[in-house]
Amino acid sequence: MAIAIDAMPDPERLRVLASRSGTAPQELDLRDPAVDERIRELYSPPRPHWVRMNMIGSLNGRVTGSDGTSDSLSNRADRRILSVIRRMSDAIVVGAETVRNERHLSTKPTWLCVVTASGNLTGHRISEADAAESVLVCCPPDARGEVERTMPGAQIQALEPQGGRIALEEVIAALRERDLHQIVVEGGNRLISQFLDEGRLNEICLTQAPVFAPNEATSLPGSVAGTKFERELLLEDSAEFIYQRLVTTL
Ligand SMILES: NC(=O)c1ccc[n+]([C@@H]2O[C@H](COP(=O)([O-])OP(=O)(O)OC[C@H]3O[C@@H](n4cnc5c(N)ncnc54)[C@H](OP(=O)(O)O)[C@@H]3O)[C@@H](O)[C@H]2O)c1
Repeated sequence: MAIAIDAMPDPERLRVLASRSGTAPQELDLRDPAVDERIRELYSPPRPHWVRMNMIGSLNGRVTGSDGTSDSLSNRADRRILSVIRRMSDAIVVGAETVRNERHLSTKPTWLCVVTASGNLTGHRISEADAAESVLVCCPPDARGEVERTMPGAQIQALEPQGGRIALEEVIAALRERDLHQIVVEGGNRLISQFLDEGRLNEICLTQAPVFAPNEATSLPGSVAGTKFERELLLEDSAEFIYQRLVTTL
């Protein structure tokens, strides 16, 4: 059962431990609503066209905790950073399993782009009105009916699959055609592995929760590309969650 954000641990402070831009170590008071602006500066993308990942993992690299979602790994500081990154983004991209399993509600005004081969999005919790305003589903032409059945209202971009998969290049092009250039990919494992293998991520935002998760939970994404990322920012909150922002020179 999903954990309400109000019931999540609520750290009071966020410390900047290291920053490549030379920001001096500092402590931010998360009780102050104005801190959102400081978080925004710390996570500001350097270019108008930018693709980043944002995920949370446990000490053993799992992406879901005891409730079977990332809610039981997360805390309110993590969700606050996620929400600032979302507000800086034009589109959030997720694999279909994430929207079936996670507690995604409306992400308005940021678009939610769901990638699916089957078109079956049963399990999501997005209302028809919100889907109509802010969800774009990328699916093969023959999955259109299944998307209409399982997520009524959502806008659909039909893309011809290659070997059963939609090419990420076409997903990104479909977003750019809609003037959506700042992109955050929020999971899950299978979708992000493709982004990593194809070298399509400029940045990784990764929270580490100070807990172990069940062995059988899904892991953080893997990649055969071996891309080296350089640490831009290292934060720690007062509940000892670690936040890394890493970039490539792509
Ligand atoms: N900790 C975190 O930050 C975090 C964030 C997000 C998700 N999660 C967790 O991660 C898990 C989901 O990860 P996952 O790896 O199982 O699934 P996923 O990557 O979210 O979704 C996989 C599904 O996406 C669709 N898909 C992916 N690439 C595609 C392509 N190129 N073309 C067409 N369709 C494509 C397929 O959908 P169809 O099956 O519909 O064809 C595929 O089965 C969930 O347990 C979720 O709770 C954790």
